[in-house]
Amino acid sequence: MKYFFTVLASCFLIGMLNSFSLKNKAEKEIIATTIDSTRGLKDYFKKYFTIGVAVSPRSLKTDEAVLIVKHFGSVTPENAMKMGPIHPKENEYYFKDADSIVAFAKRNNQKIRGHNLCWHNQTPRWFFTNTTGDTVTKAVLLERLKEHITTVVNRYKGIVYAWDVVNEAISDKQGEFYRNSAFYRICGEEFIAKAFEYAHEADPNALLFYNDYNEINPQKREKMYQLVKGLKDAGVPINGIGLQGHWAINEPTDTVLANTLEKFSKLGLKIQITELDISVYPKEHNSRERVAADTTTTFSPEKEAQQIEMYKQCFSLFEKYKKSISSVTFWNISDRSSWLDNFPVRGRKDYPLLFDKNLLPKKAFWEVVNTIN
Ligand code: GLA
Repeated sequence: MKYFFTVLASCFLIGMLNSFSLKNKAEKEIIATTIDSTRGLKDYFKKYFTIGVAVSPRSLKTDEAVLIVKHFGSVTPENAMKMGPIHPKENEYYFKDADSIVAFAKRNNQKIRGHNLCWHNQTPRWFFTNTTGDTVTKAVLLERLKEHITTVVNRYKGIVYAWDVVNEAISDKQGEFYRNSAFYRICGEEFIAKAFEYAHEADPNALLFYNDYNEINPQKREKMYQLVKGLKDAGVPINGIGLQGHWAINEPTDTVLANTLEKFSKLGLKIQITELDISVYPKEHNSRERVAADTTTTFSPEKEAQQIEMYKQCFSLFEKYKKSISSVTFWNISDRSSWLDNFPVRGRKDYPLLFDKNLLPKKAFWEVVNTIN
């Protein structure tokens, strides 16, 4: 009874305060947005796009699980579905980790983005060699690719709603279109279209993406555009382009990101931001001098302010392109741990996400939420 009256009194008091101190509805809404701790990031962006996160099976067994469920409507296995982990030997698959992520997502009504089916990295050596250690022929490689894609896509048919079918097949080098990977050396460009065909045959309802980074670089962007447009025009079953979004406090500029989104939206396919993070270190582009120049390895107020601005800029533009962008996925959960803690400078701590080491929303989180109008 005493509890009832206390609650009643508090409600009355809050109501009085609201009506006296808030002059209009708009003000009330802003305050409601900032103090409603029951809503997750995914809820704020519900009308815009799905908000996702890359996870490991381990993270689902820690206190991070609560955060993953509250804030994200989609999960991407960070490594568990890649060829190396899931298909370590020719006749051996390892599904345990991927299955545990899938089970978690299903229990919590989250979507699953599959990542990835064909990549030059984290692919086991056996894939490209025969028993005597020689490089396999094109026919053998395509047969293996088909078997791999069919098996993995089939296992998660109707569960994984979107797949990064081919990852990073474009070269970063000027004057070179395709990356000089083992896939390319053995098959030529054909492996790309084939990978999409195999995935489509296995699950005709899954959305199929080409995924790549450095999308903000005008030359790389043009190559990505040409590749995807070429596939689409040739009738290859491709549904969208994945822009990884590994960015930093110094890039992309507003104009560069706007140009990037504008260009890809012209494809008439879906765009998904698949691996978003904003490093607090200016993008180095492999320059040793710039790595050396940035000696502040703490999350300083200056870095925090720059990161907030960059996050705001990115989300404002994502919202502007909401007709084309169907999902924004963060690469890792919180600043407790990120792949950037060791890259490109070994052992250097980064703070690229919207949640801090204690899993609390950073200022950038609220600023991102407040970009919604
Ligand atoms: C690329 C890959 C991801 C991941 C990141 C770094 O962007 O697509 O799977 O490996 O690099 O962690």
